[in-house]
Amino acid sequence: MPNKDVVIVILAAGKGTRLKSALAKVLHPAGGRPLVESVVRACLPLAPKKILAIVGHQAEQVTEVVEPLGVASVLQQPQHGTGHAMLVAKRAIGNRKNVVVLPGDAPLIRTETLKALINTHRSGNAAATILSAVVSDPLGYGRILRKSENTVAAIVEDSQLTPEQREINEINSSIYCFSVNQLWPALAQVKPENKHREIYLTDAIAVLASKGETVLAQVADDPREVLGCNTRADLAEVDLIFRDRKRQELMAAGVTIQLPETVIIGPEVTAGEDTVVEPCVQLLGKTKIGANCTIRTGSILNHAVLGDGITVEPHTMIFESHLDGGNTVGPFARIRPGSHLKKGARVGNFVETKKAVIGEGSKIPHLTYVGDARLGSHTNIGAGTITCNYDGVNKYQTAIGNRVFIGSNSVLVAPVKIGDGAYIAAGSAITENVPPNALGLGRSRQTTKLGWAAKKRRELGGSKHSSKPAKRKSKPKKSRSRGKR
Ligand code: UD1
Ligand code: CA
Repeated sequence: MPNKDVVIVILAAGKGTRLKSALAKVLHPAGGRPLVESVVRACLPLAPKKILAIVGHQAEQVTEVVEPLGVASVLQQPQHGTGHAMLVAKRAIGNRKNVVVLPGDAPLIRTETLKALINTHRSGNAAATILSAVVSDPLGYGRILRKSENTVAAIVEDSQLTPEQREINEINSSIYCFSVNQLWPALAQVKPENKHREIYLTDAIAVLASKGETVLAQVADDPREVLGCNTRADLAEVDLIFRDRKRQELMAAGVTIQLPETVIIGPEVTAGEDTVVEPCVQLLGKTKIGANCTIRTGSILNHAVLGDGITVEPHTMIFESHLDGGNTVGPFARIRPGSHLKKGARVGNFVETKKAVIGEGSKIPHLTYVGDARLGSHTNIGAGTITCNYDGVNKYQTAIGNRVFIGSNSVLVAPVKIGDGAYIAAGSAITENVPPNALGLGRSRQTTKLGWAAKKRRELGGSKHSSKPAKRKSKPKKSRSRGKR
C-alpha cells in the first residue's frame, strides 16, 4: 500500500548524552546496524512520499548512513527539542496530509505496526495518533494521560510527573502520526517550559486535546518494539532482541543453531537447510552459507560466501572470501580477504591465506602462509611452506600449477612460478621458476661426519652431554668440577 499522502520524519539530531560517547546516539549499532538505519528500513516498505531525517550531532555521518537508502537530511542546529526538530523540517514536510514521526533511537519498530498506526489515524479522523505501549517498567518514558478509553489528554514527560502519574504504565513510544494541518498551529503554542528549555513535541498533544481535536493512542501489541536506546544498557537489551529475531529467522529456514544465545548473526546473513552452527560462532556482514555446512565453535565469518557441504573447524576466521563447496577449513585457520577455495580444497590448522586461489582438491594441511598466490588443482603444500610475497615495498605473485608437491618448510620467493607436476624438495628456498615435472631443490647439501658427536662428548668430558644418563653416576666428581669451571 503506497502512502503518497504521508511524509515520514525520523528524529536523529540528538547527541545521546546518557550514552557517554563520542559517537552520536543514532549511529550506535544494535543487531549489526546503526540504530537509525534500522528505523529507516522499517519505514521503506510504507512507500511514503518522502522520508526525512533530522540531523544535528555528527550530521555528516548520519547522512552517510541514511542517504543511500533514499532519505533526505534536514539540519537542526542547535537542537532545541523534538518539537523544535519538527519546526525545522516544516518546509521540507510541505503540504502532505499526514506526517509520521519516529525517534531515531527506537530501532525495533516493525513496518506492520506503522501500517496499523496510519490506518487507525485515518479511520479515526484524528489530529494525532500516538503509538503507545504498556510496560512493566515505565521509568524514563513520557506517560499517556487518557481523556477517555480511546482518546488522550496529554503526554507527561518522566521528569514532570506527579507522584500519582508515576504509576501510569502506558508510555509514549515517540512514534506518532499527525495531521499536518493541525500539527503546526498546536506546535506554535508550545513553549519551552521545562528544565532543558526545549520545545517538546509531546506538549503539542495537550494543546490539540484542549482544542477539542481527536488524539488517539494505539497500544503496540509487543511493547518490546518501541524500546528506545538512551543508555548502554538499553543498547544491549535491544541488541539481544535483534539477535534473537535473526536466529529465529534462520532456524525457521532450516538451520540448526546450538546454544543459540551464544551465536551472533548479522542482519544480512543467509544459510541453507541442514546447516549446523555450533556455539559461540559469529556470522557477520553479507555472509552467505549453503546447505549442509557445519560452522564449528568459535569461528567468525565476515562477508564470507560458502557453497554446500563445507566444514569450518573450530576457531577459524573467514573474511571476504569464497569457498565453492565440499571444503574443510581449520581448525585455527585464517582465510583473509580475496581467498577463493575451489571445490574440495582443504586448508588445515594454523594456515593463513590472503588473495589466494586454491584449486580444486588442493590441500594446505598445516602451518603455512599462502598470499598473493594461485594454486592449481590437486596440489599439496607441505607444512611450514611460506610464499614470500613482500619485499618490504611491493607485493609479488606466486603461481603454482596442478599436481605440484611442495615439500615441508619451503619458502617460495615471489615472483615465482612452479610448473604442473613439479616437486619442491623439503626445506628449499625457491627463488627461480621451476618448470613442469622438474624437481626444485634449493638448500645446501647435507654433510654427515661419522663419529663426530661421540668424539665431541669425549672432549667435553662426557656426562653432561652424554646420551646415556646411566653413566652419569659413575663419574660424578669429574662432571661437577668441570661444570663449575
Ligand atoms: C522521548 C519522548 C518521550 C518518549 C521517549 C520514547 C520527548 C520530549 N519525549 O524522550 O515522551 O517516551 O522519547 O523513547 O519527545 N532529537 C532531535 N532533536 C532534538 C532532540 C531530540 O532530533 O532537538 C531526537 C534524538 O536524536 C532522538 C529522538 O529525538 O533520536 C528522541 O530524543 P530523546 O532525547 O531520546 O528523547 P527521550 O528523552 O527518550
Ligand atoms: Ca530516547
